[in-house]
Order: sequence, then C-alpha cells, then structure tokens
Amino acid sequence: MKRIELARVAAGDRAGVAELCSVVEQLARSGRFILGEAVLAFEQKFATAAGARHAIGVASGSDALTLALLAAGVMPGDVVLTTPLSFIATAEAILRVGAVPRFIDVDDASLCLCPHALARCFSHCSRGVGGAMTSPSGRRVGAVVPVHLYGRIANMAALATVAREAGVGIVQDAAQAVGGRAGDRSLTSFGSASVSFFPTKNLGAWGDGGAVLTDDDDVAERVKMLRSHGMRGGRAIEVGLNSRLDALQAAVLDRKLAGLGEIEAKRREHAEFYRAALPAWVTRPPPLEPGDACHIFTVRCPRRDAMRAHLDAAGIGTGAYYPELLSDHPIVRSRMEGEPGDCPNARRATGEVLALPIHEHLTRDELERVVMAMGSSRFGDAR
Ligand SMILES: Cc1ncc(COP(=O)(O)O)c(C=O)c1O
Repeated sequence: MKRIELARVAAGDRAGVAELCSVVEQLARSGRFILGEAVLAFEQKFATAAGARHAIGVASGSDALTLALLAAGVMPGDVVLTTPLSFIATAEAILRVGAVPRFIDVDDASLCLCPHALARCFSHCSRGVGGAMTSPSGRRVGAVVPVHLYGRIANMAALATVAREAGVGIVQDAAQAVGGRAGDRSLTSFGSASVSFFPTKNLGAWGDGGAVLTDDDDVAERVKMLRSHGMRGGRAIEVGLNSRLDALQAAVLDRKLAGLGEIEAKRREHAEFYRAALPAWVTRPPPLEPGDACHIFTVRCPRRDAMRAHLDAAGIGTGAYYPELLSDHPIVRSRMEGEPGDCPNARRATGEVLALPIHEHLTRDELERVVMAMGSSRFGDAR
C-alpha cells in the first residue's frame, strides 16, 4: 500500500508548474536575479496579505529571525526570553546576535509561550541602568520571542500586556504561521514577526526563503540595510549579512500566494476530520482559532514513540516536534541563562507530542487510514 508521508512537497498541478516555469523563464531572460521588481512585487503583496506595513524578503526564516532581533536592537550580552519548545533556529538566531536565551515554560494546552510564566520571570527581574529590565544575572532583557508553534498563534494579547509592563519589545517567530493573525489583529500590531518559506511550509518556495514583517518604518529600513551587508549609500555602517530573498523564489512565491487560502482551508478540513474521527482516548489539540495558520496537526500520546513505530509499520509517516527542548542541545545548554528543569510543561510535551499527516494533498481515504491505524494500536492512555 502507498506510504502516507508526513509532509509532501509537490510543485503543484501540471498547469501551475507550467505557469511557474514560464515566470522563471521570463526572469532568467531579464537577468534581474537579485532584488528588483520581482522581490518588490512579492513583498508588497505579502505585506498586504499579512496586514503588515512592510514585508522584507530574506534568504530563510532563520535569517529573518536573526535580522528581526538585530533590527529590534537586541545587543550582544542581552538575555532574550523565549520558549524551549521550538525548532533549533529559534535559539540559534538568539545566539547568532550574541544574546543569551532564557527559557520560559509553555501553556500546557496551546504549547506556546505562557503569559503567566513570562510574568513570573519578570517578577524575578529588576530595573537596571536607565530603567531597563534586568535579569537576575544582571543582563538587560533585550526581547521576548514567542513562537507560533504548529501555526497556532500564541496568546499575543496577554503576552503583549506582560511585555509592555516590563518595557520589553516582542519579536515573533512566525516561521510556522505564514498567514496567521491574532484574532482580528495582524501579528505585526504586536511587534515584528519572522516567517519561513521552507518548501514544507503552507507557503513554500522552491528552495529556502523567509521574510520579516513589521509595521515599523525604522525596523523595515534596518532589515533592508542589514540584509545587504549593512550597507547604506554604498558604505557599510553595520555588520550585516548577505541575506536577500532570491528573485526566482519571489516570483514563485508571488504566484503561489494566491493559493494560500485554499491550502489553509484544506489543512483545516483535515484537522477537523481528525478531531471528529480519532479514537476517543487520543488527546486532541485545542480547537483551531480563526487566526491560526493550520500548519502541523499534533495529538498527545503518552507512549508516543511506540505509536510512531506502529504507524510507521502501517506505512504512515509521523513527526515528533520536538523530542528535545532547545535547552537540551549542547551549544544552547552551554550558553543559556536559567536551568533546563525550569519548564515542566514543555518537558512533558517532548515525550508526548505526535504530528500526523495534514498536508493539502491528502485524500479522505488516506486520512481514514491514519485514523484506523491509530484505532488499531494498543497505545491509548485509557487502555
Ligand atoms: C519555529 C521555527 N523557527 C525558525 C525556523 C527556520 O526557518 P528556515 O528553515 O526557513 O530557516 C523554522 C523552520 O522550520 C521553525 O520551525
């Protein structure tokens, strides 16, 4: 029987691929491979779709977060508060700007940064030079980085209230949440946000790509300068990066953007199917909110690894996002502030979270096969 993959990166239907190839051919003939019209056109459309004032295309979601942190004024030696339950790129970006991550626990249901835990952390901080919020080890708190995990939008209203009271800015890692909104508000109304166009994402490029979204003109200008070697007026004024979104990728993304709503709707339909059809003993994620970007569908399963092996034997690909906390990675452990045991909710999730196939190419038969395979296992918590 055909294997059901966790993620399927298909270029699109035949007509879509032909259209994209002709767009790429036009661009190749024009010779405008770096920035230019194609990037500008996509940036404008993407900003409008996200309800943001600016979108700045960069080489990857990892670079987008790095550049957003730099543009937000995070300095070497600062501490940055974030969740330990994320892809390594979240911690990597913090370390790349010379800052130190401190991990705050997640909410047990949403698995996104918990506003109460954030407030508790600030209650142990004090005001340092010039009133800046300072961590117990004496470092300035440079930013709070919520991650919209699996496309679920963190509780931004509550996080923003806590961060505002502390006088600390927010930089969102929205790599998994392209197309997401916080209720009826754009993500950028809470601070800048970085997104990823990695091919498996809901809006996937034909390679790597990312963008910084922001409503702040100064942040936008800084990101543009930093993505092009920190140059302004032909002179380097800051240490930047070479991190532009390729014009070829921009052209592909521009055409695919129109289909993002359809992809999102299909994935939502699959998530709703799972919610209704999975065996009763499977712990479902909280219901999707209207602004969530439905990217990864996860259930909780106490015998997760045994269940993964069972599903694998049934020809079904699954994922464990994430089997280790960021604080468990050696390079992070050696540079972080705080203790790895500080985040019990996130720690428990590392052993239980199971991602099921949800991509838009799945058929109803395939979804039913996943449900049947789960039902035929003997790993339910109630068994
Ligand atoms: C939460 C998170 N942050 C950052 C990234 C990095 O994005 P990219 O792979 O485009 O560099 C990813 C990629 O999957 C991610 O999931």
